[in-house]
Amino acid sequence: MPKIRKKTTIAIVGLGYVGLPLTILAAKSGIIVYGLDKDKEKIRLLQNRKNYLSDAGLTRDLEKVIGEKKLIPATHFSILKKCQAILICLPTPVYKNFKPDLRILKNAAGKIGPYLKKGSLVINESTVAIGTTREILGKILEKKSGLKMGQDFYLACSPERVDPGTANKTENIAKLIGGINEQSGRRAYQIYQKFIKAPLEIVASLEIAEGAKMLENSYRALNIALVNELALLCEKINLDVTAIIAAASTKWSFQAHWPSLGTGGHCIPVDPHYLTDLARDKGVTMKSLEAGMATNHQMPLRFAAKIVKAYKKGMRILIYGLAYKKNIKDLRESPSLTVCRLLQKRKVSFQVYDPFYATQEIRALGFTPGRVKKGIYDLVVIATDHDTLQKDAAKIISKNTVVLDGKNYFQKKVGKKVIGVGRTL
Ligand SMILES: NC(=O)c1ccc[n+]([C@@H]2O[C@H](COP(=O)([O-])OP(=O)(O)OC[C@H]3O[C@@H](n4cnc5c(N)ncnc54)[C@H](O)[C@@H]3O)[C@@H](O)[C@H]2O)c1
Repeated sequence: MPKIRKKTTIAIVGLGYVGLPLTILAAKSGIIVYGLDKDKEKIRLLQNRKNYLSDAGLTRDLEKVIGEKKLIPATHFSILKKCQAILICLPTPVYKNFKPDLRILKNAAGKIGPYLKKGSLVINESTVAIGTTREILGKILEKKSGLKMGQDFYLACSPERVDPGTANKTENIAKLIGGINEQSGRRAYQIYQKFIKAPLEIVASLEIAEGAKMLENSYRALNIALVNELALLCEKINLDVTAIIAAASTKWSFQAHWPSLGTGGHCIPVDPHYLTDLARDKGVTMKSLEAGMATNHQMPLRFAAKIVKAYKKGMRILIYGLAYKKNIKDLRESPSLTVCRLLQKRKVSFQVYDPFYATQEIRALGFTPGRVKKGIYDLVVIATDHDTLQKDAAKIISKNTVVLDGKNYFQKKVGKKVIGVGRTL
């Protein structure tokens, strides 16, 4: 394997949910890491040793690596001149019509290219459709640098698999690495080996790594769609969908997925569209995946309709939880947000409480802040099952409260009635 120089200096472009923890992890290992982000406020906070993510576990390490100048926050791409490797952790969203929106990635590639030199390594960690790292990212880098990928600079793809707010962190998840050629894969392996203890798996190509990420998230989206549809059936025939899933889980080959008011975040509601779009482009219609995504996108609308149905004029409603999943502060594609917007359109008045959002933040989103207090709500909607619900449930739910449980959180009846997704208690 080619030797990496002793003092390794890398850059991580995009310091969000993926990039910032990765940056801290690399800096902790002794590597000098330039953390690059276009958001000046984030850079200012980092320079002041402040953690802006809701994962409080990062704070102490962040303070240490900034203090020791192992992590150097930056906004200008010229710092890339000093780096042997550049890791890209930029957003890859979809447009309103669910077509992949690669503007951010393309724009950043245009700014990275001029700073590449012979022997530079670029690793794409962002989730993209099969072929994107080579055909789009690689080609822009070639054009802007005047260098040839695979020959003058190394190019690899290592899709991030972290699950923010859970124990599934980069340092303990097996990591795939695909290179444009063998040298690129090995070069990327050597960098990651310095700071990731989890197994590093070199796969045959860029496209295999990209394809694995597409499959992982599409597999999850499609299985969620299946149980969402089963839940809709259970509502018609008066059966508890969670009991069916629990029973099926006793079989060795069954992996349980759970229905809910909807999927959220930057991955499950987004990534499969990159795959179905590529497939259509190549003349293949991935019918089941397309239908499954449509089912999942419909879930918040169906859930909002249930609230409207249960609502009677004058009722006091609390929406508990805004974030797209528990124990994090992240609104991206949040089904709770979709439900709230729909209720506003239907002129249903409600209050919102989320322990991760201050009252002024809730107001800034256009909602009335709610309170965790006994006896003030007739209807409580569980939109995010934050762990705080354990202590809050008894306070917000009285014996006459109707509960609309979008997460099937409650195991037995509380209040007057619990209307879940695919079951009523
Ligand atoms: N969040 C997750 O759970 C998760 C998990 C696995 C993979 N991914 C993938 O990782 C990638 C990054 O996701 P994320 O959740 O970290 O996104 P994010 O939105 O949290 O962070 C992206 C960061 O990039 C910065 N940025 C945007 N444009 C920029 C530019 N031109 N130059 C420099 N910085 C710029 C933003 O300011 C932001 O800080 C996406 O492809 C996503 O699909 C995300």
